[in-house]
Amino acid sequence: MNIKNVGVVGCGQMGGGIVEVSAKAGYHVVVLEVNQAFLDKGMANVTASLDRAAKKGRITEEEKDKILGRIKGTTSFDDFKHCDLVIEAVIENMEEKKRVFAALDKACPPHAILASNTSCLSVLDMAMATRRQSQVLGLHFFNPVPVMKIVEIVKTILTSDDVVAAGRAFCDSIDKKSVLCKDTPGFIANRLAIIVVIATIRAYEQGLATKEDIDLTMKLGLNHPMGPLELADFIGLDTLYFIACAMYDELKDPAYLPPVLLKKMVIAGQLGRKSGKGFYDYK
Ligand code: CAA
Repeated sequence: MNIKNVGVVGCGQMGGGIVEVSAKAGYHVVVLEVNQAFLDKGMANVTASLDRAAKKGRITEEEKDKILGRIKGTTSFDDFKHCDLVIEAVIENMEEKKRVFAALDKACPPHAILASNTSCLSVLDMAMATRRQSQVLGLHFFNPVPVMKIVEIVKTILTSDDVVAAGRAFCDSIDKKSVLCKDTPGFIANRLAIIVVIATIRAYEQGLATKEDIDLTMKLGLNHPMGPLELADFIGLDTLYFIACAMYDELKDPAYLPPVLLKKMVIAGQLGRKSGKGFYDYK
């Protein structure tokens, strides 16, 4: 299938990144937010990221303007009426995701593919909120989207092979490697990586070593770009807590049981980089 027009629901950290890489690859992109203030904030982040890319010489000022010219912000689902592919990147809440998929199903043309950027929720549940279940798949990007080179393609038991092939072709076109996985909690990356992050928080909670020494060991001893506690702050402790709970609920594997310290930090509003404080201080 020929994808020309891409829609993105949500212009937060992940949605904004998906908007940026899609427009950079030449797609016309419509991005939806719940209101104008959220849209302005999201677009300001996309513009700032492109400004940085231009300053670093990765794109010219002229290219930057062309990329921005291909992005249209909206607060109405009606603006998805010409989209061939729409990627949902709203909060990790199944009721909200289902509401979005039902609205997309109504607003998008019959041929359009609907994708979710969820990192751990069931894509099949979202597909069931539409009348085009075979055209729904997961496209799970990684943060920061412009930097991370991979996308997990999630195939539900109802997703057609043609739709998976179109998902793969889209990933190729935006210069991302893609991997195919089943619609199971956490897919590949979170199923494996979350265990390490949770085990690290638990070890820190039990007094194994200082946070700095734990992270330094993982960075210099195992060549991780960030230590697991730094990574937890980067992902957001609320998001991490949500993923851990969702994975434990589904898999009943104690490896995913969130540590008490993680829960307390979330209650205290210590959410990591985004709140200015998590395991580390960012103020
Ligand atoms: N947007 C665009 N470019 C960015 C960026 C962003 N948000 N953040 C960093 N970059 C670019 C920088 O411009 C820089 O580019 P140049 O080399 O051309 O100058 C490059 O990335 C390196 O950045 P920095 O020098 O500022 O910092 P760094 O070397 O520490 O790298 C990092 C930053 C890329 C984030 C790196 O620390 C890293 O790879 N961390 C691990 C990230 C990770 O694991 N992500 C997955 C999170 S889990 C997830 O997303 C799944 C989920 O479901 C929860």
